[in-house]
Amino acid sequence: MNGKMNIPQHIAIIMDGNGRWARQRGKERSEGHIAGMNSLRETVRNAAQAGVKYLTVYAFSTENWGRPQAEVDALMELICKGVESESAELAKVGIKVKTIGDRSRFSEKVQASLEKIESLTAAGEQMTFVLALNYSSRSEIVTAVQRLAQRVAAGEIKAEEIDEKMISDSLYTSFMPDPDLIIRTSGECRLSNFLMWQASYAEFYFTPTLWPDFDKAELEKALEAYAARDRRYGLVKK
Ligand code: IPE
Ligand code: IPE
Ligand code: MG
Repeated sequence: MNGKMNIPQHIAIIMDGNGRWARQRGKERSEGHIAGMNSLRETVRNAAQAGVKYLTVYAFSTENWGRPQAEVDALMELICKGVESESAELAKVGIKVKTIGDRSRFSEKVQASLEKIESLTAAGEQMTFVLALNYSSRSEIVTAVQRLAQRVAAGEIKAEEIDEKMISDSLYTSFMPDPDLIIRTSGECRLSNFLMWQASYAEFYFTPTLWPDFDKAELEKALEAYAARDRRYGLVKK
């Protein structure tokens, strides 16, 4: 990797293809999720080393509750195990963990795990690692609109005062900048209800690589592609 390369401040990843990775090997889908967890562990380290300041990963969508119960259970188990095995190390290397999404639907056990990893890593300054859990962009926007409508009804703000910043500040992601680069693995070219407001000027990178196979070399390819992009924001180049 070129040391002077333009590194995105915030990368968001739609980690897709765990199920297909497992099926290709004659394994259960849940084995694919375990392999995907290893990929995630490496990617967090690699992104932090590359100088990325925010890494957001789509780990569980609101739609994913509709999967077979055994798969949902396996994913919940993995979240708890991941917290157990990673918290201390993440705290040590200065990675702060946060979540976006509606946590109230998770079991007490999962919620306690998430609280634990957040508090253990709260002082991290190297990189913020954000897990999107029970997340959907549309429900995030609905929640934000409800909050703002309540403030208007309470007379705290006027409807015409609502601007883009106020909406951004009402989203789960209010504590971080918009993503510069959105990566999706497994060859699917869609957002699947992920960061739709925040992605307005993001660069997209799609790769056929399945998430469990996404390694350091794959991240470097994505970073190189990003560095070669010309972000114009609707303007004309000087
Ligand atoms: C992504 O892999 C992980 C989650 C959605 C939790 P998938 O489980 O969607 O894998 P495919 O897309 O079926 O291969
Ligand atoms: C998106 O992947 C959600 C996550 C990666 C957690 P899906 O596999 O659930 O999305 P679709 O079904 O391909 O749109
Ligand atoms: Mg998928």
